[in-house]
Amino acid sequence: MRMTLLRLAGAATAGLVAAAALTTAAHSAEAADTLGSAAAGQGRSFGAAVAANHLDEAGYTATLNREFTSATPENEMKWDATEPTRGTFTFAAADQVVNHARGQGMDVRGHTLVWHSQLPPWVGGLGAADLRTAMNDHINRVMGHYKGRIHSWDVVNEAFQDGGSGARRSSPFQDKLGDGFIEEAFRTARAADPAAKLCYNDYNTDGVNAKSTAVYRMVQDFRSRGVPIDCVGFQGHFNGNSPVPADFQANLQRFADLGVDVQITELDIEGSGTAQADSYARVVTACLAVDRCTGITVWGVTDRYSWRSAGTPLLFDGDYRAKPAYGAVLTALGGDGGGDPGDGTASCTATYTRTADWNGGYNGQVTITAGSEPIGSWSTTVTFPSPQRVQAAWNATTTWDGGGSVMTARPSWNGPLAAGASTSFGFTVTKNGSDAAPAVGACTAS
Ligand code: G3I
Repeated sequence: MRMTLLRLAGAATAGLVAAAALTTAAHSAEAADTLGSAAAGQGRSFGAAVAANHLDEAGYTATLNREFTSATPENEMKWDATEPTRGTFTFAAADQVVNHARGQGMDVRGHTLVWHSQLPPWVGGLGAADLRTAMNDHINRVMGHYKGRIHSWDVVNEAFQDGGSGARRSSPFQDKLGDGFIEEAFRTARAADPAAKLCYNDYNTDGVNAKSTAVYRMVQDFRSRGVPIDCVGFQGHFNGNSPVPADFQANLQRFADLGVDVQITELDIEGSGTAQADSYARVVTACLAVDRCTGITVWGVTDRYSWRSAGTPLLFDGDYRAKPAYGAVLTALGGDGGGDPGDGTASCTATYTRTADWNGGYNGQVTITAGSEPIGSWSTTVTFPSPQRVQAAWNATTTWDGGGSVMTARPSWNGPLAAGASTSFGFTVTKNGSDAAPAVGACTAS
């Protein structure tokens, strides 16, 4: 008798989950429900760094195609990838990204032509005259291959030193060609593809500081002398040691006032939950407040493949579930996560974190975050891999299904949430030999 009841309850719950999934799918077909469409509504692009070797993964490509309107090859256009030996150019991996992106109607950011890192050893071995020729050849061949297909090129990347010196960074280019290599690279680039916007790109230049001021002076000088430069890229790699600076917007604005576009080119913010979401929202809000801030690119699609994976710095978790930061970005962009802004459509996201771990068990926490409308209630499911068993759960009312493996969680006292607000529930699990993470289902709001 008990088994029969459980099965019936299971069928009902499965129906509920299917309905929630359908609702989510219907919403994501609407215009302002994605990062890309919401940013487009603000006249901006919203991009991601893309790695060619993940394009065959369904979740990766589905998320990329649905959410983003711009793509930056993460490594495939760098010198070591495109010209590993002098005069031999390999474009296969970069072509994959460019063809995929353009096939989806995305812009492509070219990254990067002249950089001290990911530089094949032969470049460092050249004498000055030869190096100048090699640099110009490299720019001409790579830009020539993609001529007319690249929105913006990072012509020179990270040419300034960190710290307070304001000096140029030592590199084969700097050491052998002097300061003038940057100007020469930009002039060569303009001739190679006159339609592409030409950017200087760097990190730790997001706020007003000695390094960003050194870059500012260079751009000011270029503008006054007619050296072709159209944009400055601010990478935006943030974490606890390097948070979003208070003067981020002011810094973007002072560059824009020089007559160049500004772009956030490699955004990622280590952290989780509301703190991470708030920081992301600040970056988006700052960009929107600067007319010439034309686009934001996050440095990857999913935390799983981020260069700072352990810091979970991106908008989608390892299973392509939208994190609270995603909702915050969408809201800041004026998107609504499920309908037109102000139309009262309730939505929410559910994200999972393991908060404690020991030999025989672990504690998990699921954070529920309301979308851009207040919600009255929420529910989600958590499926535990066999043979794990839940010992206790708190801050939610739970019902069970799937022979004790699927937990449906609903509010106990914490149903109503303001727009963008979060609550969480938790549980203690006995591993019984399985250390796998539970799967959190879609969040349903009402
Ligand atoms: O592809 C090889 C793989 O075959 C090999 O097994 C593996 C072993 O280490 O290495 C793989 O290559 C790595 C590559 O990423 C692809 O994952 C390189 O070692 C690794 O150095 C490379 O790191 C990249 C890093 O630039 C190199 O400087 C990151 O993916 C990339 O996200 C990062 O991007 C930079 C921007 O270009 C410029 N601004 C900073 C940003 C973050 O460092």
